[in-house]
Parts: sequence; C-alpha cells; structure tokens
Amino acid sequence: MVKVKFLGHAAFYIEGSKKILIDPFLTGNPQAVAKPEDFKDVDLILVTHAHGDHIGDAGEIAKISGAKIVAMYDIANYIAEKFKGVETVGMNYGPTEVDGVFIVQVPAWHSSSDGKYSIGNASGFIVKLDGKTIYHAGDTYVFKDMELFSELYGPIDVALLPIGGHFTMGVKEAAKAVELLKPRTVVPMHYNTWPPISADPEEFKKLVGDKAKVVVLKPGEELEL
Ligand code: NI
Ligand code: MN
Repeated sequence: MVKVKFLGHAAFYIEGSKKILIDPFLTGNPQAVAKPEDFKDVDLILVTHAHGDHIGDAGEIAKISGAKIVAMYDIANYIAEKFKGVETVGMNYGPTEVDGVFIVQVPAWHSSSDGKYSIGNASGFIVKLDGKTIYHAGDTYVFKDMELFSELYGPIDVALLPIGGHFTMGVKEAAKAVELLKPRTVVPMHYNTWPPISADPEEFKKLVGDKAKVVVLKPGEELEL
C-alpha cells in the first residue's frame, strides 16, 4: 500500500517501500502540519523547482535524514553548494531510476529562480512506487503535452495539481488538466496558502465532474492508494 500525505501548500509525503518527500516547504508555510525533524528516515526528496515555497526545507531534511535530493541538474548543484555534504541526484527532463524508484522529471510551464536569478527549469514528477503511479505537477499552467504523461506512464493513480491561480493553473485550467491526464484520483494543492492564490476546491470538484475522483485533503490528511 502507498500512502500520500498532504503536508500543506505543495508539500507531500509518499510512504511505501520507500519514503519520499516532494517540495517539503514546512518552515514558514502557513499550512504546514509537520516539522523538518519529523522526517529523519526519509529516503528521497524531490524538488520541482527552485522557488522557496518548493525547495523549502529540502536541504535541512537531507542533512538530518541522509536522503538524496532529486532535482533538475542546476537546482541540484545549487542545493549541493548551499548544503555541503548533502547527496544530490541532478537530472533533467526524462526517466531515471533512483534506489529502485522509477522517476520521470516532466516539464512544467513556470519559472525557476531564487526569487531573482534563474536556476534550472521548473518541472513536475511522475513517480512509480510499489506499482502505483503518482504525478506531482509542481507549479504549472495547463498544457496539451500532459496527454503524453498518461499515454507513456499511465494510468495515473493520483495527480496532485495546483488550483490556486496567479502563479499556476486556476480551477478551470486544472480541470482541463484532469481531462488530459485522465488520473483515477486528483488532489488539489497550492491554494489558500496566501491571499493571491485563493481558490475553492469545491468549485474545482464541480468542474472535474465525473472525469476523476476529486479528494480534497486538509493539511495532515492522507490518501491510500
Ligand atoms: Ni513556483
Ligand atoms: Mn509555488
């Protein structure tokens, strides 16, 4: 069984035969329900892009857990320089395998920077763990190539999609993404953390209709796959 726990904003904890964090922004995250110290035994940390609300505590958690950080090559180098001794796996768009976990880094239409200077490119991740397929979109606008993700790696058991607008897709665009991705279940994320990304997950649910099962997780809640 694979559990997908929502940690607030875009942070998720995936637990199966491996323990995986994605975008662990905990410190300073108004929605956070966990602290970096809660993840001393995590195996992998996936970072979708360099913005602070995604890199978050990745470096610190890697230090206390010995977890490997998987990210775009340039972002991995940036983290390795900031957090000496942390093990990183720098990759680019494409498939790879890290510690027996199949990971595809896929494009995302978004920027990636330290807030000022560009670092690498933004991405999403498709993770196959214990026979389950999880897609974390990162921060992105909707794009037609999302069709390829289900075509090449599907069926997608759960898609984690931003719905907050302003920096990413809003509810309308995310509902279109569901049409392209054809996931079994979709979990909205990256909304209501701050006023500019206010969104109503019930409106998203209505727009998705019967195209997928929408599970609205509160920070701290989890989904079993
Ligand atoms: Ni971002
Ligand atoms: Mn973001």
